[in-house]
Amino acid sequence: MTTAILSALPEEQGGLMHALQQPEQLQHAGRIFWRGHLHGQPVVLALSGIGKVAAATTAAALAERFGVARMVFTGVAGGVGEGVQVGDVVVAQDYLQHDFDASPIFPRWEVPGYGRARMDCDAALNALLLEAARAYLADAGAHFVADLPNAARAPQVHHGLMASGDRFVSTAQESSALRAALLASDHDVLAVEMEGAAVAQVCRDYGLPFAAVRTISDRADDSAHVDFAHFVQNVASRYADHIVQRFVRML
Ligand code: ADE
Repeated sequence: MTTAILSALPEEQGGLMHALQQPEQLQHAGRIFWRGHLHGQPVVLALSGIGKVAAATTAAALAERFGVARMVFTGVAGGVGEGVQVGDVVVAQDYLQHDFDASPIFPRWEVPGYGRARMDCDAALNALLLEAARAYLADAGAHFVADLPNAARAPQVHHGLMASGDRFVSTAQESSALRAALLASDHDVLAVEMEGAAVAQVCRDYGLPFAAVRTISDRADDSAHVDFAHFVQNVASRYADHIVQRFVRML
């Protein structure tokens, strides 16, 4: 039962590469995949690329070529939900594509052919990721407070809807408009990023369990680009490394 572990950026893959045992590099579809073991579990580490199409190609390759049994996405996201702060962790309960719009033929955000806007993540994997994230932040969260802009409290773990789109959301106006429009249709989105919904859809097509854990790097507002660079360099890779390694040990 091989587990695929995807990230968008090399920095997000961070320490996992260093912990990989018996690493074997494979190239396919213009991507580099690393097969090996983490804590005795067979894994494939992959960079999804940035955006939904790149991520869908990577996910399809992992299903077809590598025969993985499940996929887990780890990386960063912009917090848009109330109380979702930089340094917090979000485990996705489900995903939608916030830039998907086939209305008025189909309801806004619904993906034609699926009869739904939201794609579920796997409940059992979510439970493990939540446990791993909570345990890690309980141990180490306080150490990160100094690295977090305006942190008034220790980092928290959230569980809920995540939204993907082919945009880096970088103004407060766009972020609040996006959140308000989704909320008006009962989609209470916690965070935005650019790949997860695509991987969730591919996993649904292949009948593979999928889960995602994202560290909040910015508030998807006017300073998102500043927070993002600082955060990915200093914090996100350590989070991903520790949370995913704890998760793999529970499999
Ligand atoms: N990933 C991290 N921050 C993001 C943002 N603000 N918009 C889209 N993807 C992100």
